[in-house]
Amino acid sequence: MNTVTSIAELRAELDAARAAGLGVGVVPTMGALHEGHLSLIDRSVAECDLTVVTVFVNPTQFRPGEDLDAYPRRLADDTALASERGADLLFVPAVEEIYPPGFATSVAVRGITERLCGDATRRGHEHFDGVTTVVAKLFNIVQPDRAYFGQKDAQQVAAIRRMVADLNFRVRIETCPTVREADGLALSSRNAYLSADQRERATALVDALRATQSELSDGVRDGATLTQSALRRLADRLAPDDTVEYFEIVDPCSLETVESVDRPALAVVAARVGSTRLIDNFPLEPKTDRPSAIPTTNPIPQGAAI
Ligand code: PAJ
Repeated sequence: MNTVTSIAELRAELDAARAAGLGVGVVPTMGALHEGHLSLIDRSVAECDLTVVTVFVNPTQFRPGEDLDAYPRRLADDTALASERGADLLFVPAVEEIYPPGFATSVAVRGITERLCGDATRRGHEHFDGVTTVVAKLFNIVQPDRAYFGQKDAQQVAAIRRMVADLNFRVRIETCPTVREADGLALSSRNAYLSADQRERATALVDALRATQSELSDGVRDGATLTQSALRRLADRLAPDDTVEYFEIVDPCSLETVESVDRPALAVVAARVGSTRLIDNFPLEPKTDRPSAIPTTNPIPQGAAI
């Protein structure tokens, strides 16, 4: 595996690969690679001739007071892991390579990014503007055939799919399932910030999602009823200083609240355990009385890959 830091160098490598007819996959990351990231690399290596992993702690997606400076940086480990898993190129640009002096453009996806984690009260859409801008740049730099993202960040994937459709990027977005610890906690670089007690409480999120899924299979379809019940479970498990930012049942593409789970939906949750902000989501499939042996069309809309 070759590590490159400049856009010119990366483009030279990729031009040669494309001239040889190779299909290119990209896995954008902020580094501190764990099994969640590595599962995306595995998918790309399996499906593409050449896999580019990008490691860039993107300053524009951190809001004031967030953990930009404290964000883990482990380039030596990342290099070893990406190489072991079969990546071909590691792109590790400096901040000035991506944002040179005078940089003034922003790619903003409205609507989808103004809900949930992007709620106006938290000015959260600014985070997604940072994500879509850097991902648009990475797509233009790498010009991949396929790009791999984790379902763990469902709102991020929805915004990127919208951007790709709206701006006619010639890339196929592949969504990969959330990789979890044995007790269900979704892997995240931020889990390292949790104390032992907080780590235990953090499983309240996945447990609330699991309970929602089982209530749905017991026949409860009403979104508000499922939400209230999940919020009660979260309150029972979390400490008084922890805060639930949201629990909602939403459409997987638009992220609008759904009133009743009559088609595939997503249960999404965000909470602060101590000062660590955690997110998670579960797909919800409505129970159907029809025999599953006679599928007509794929009931899962594009963007709901899980
Ligand atoms: P980062 O948080 O490093 O995540 C990189 C990719 O790994 C994202 O697509 C994320 O959804 C995926 N991922 C993280 N945890 C996962 C898990 N437990 N299971 C499966 N996939 C997981 O997301 C970002 O970086 C940035 O916003 C980025 C897209 C790189 C733009 O800066």
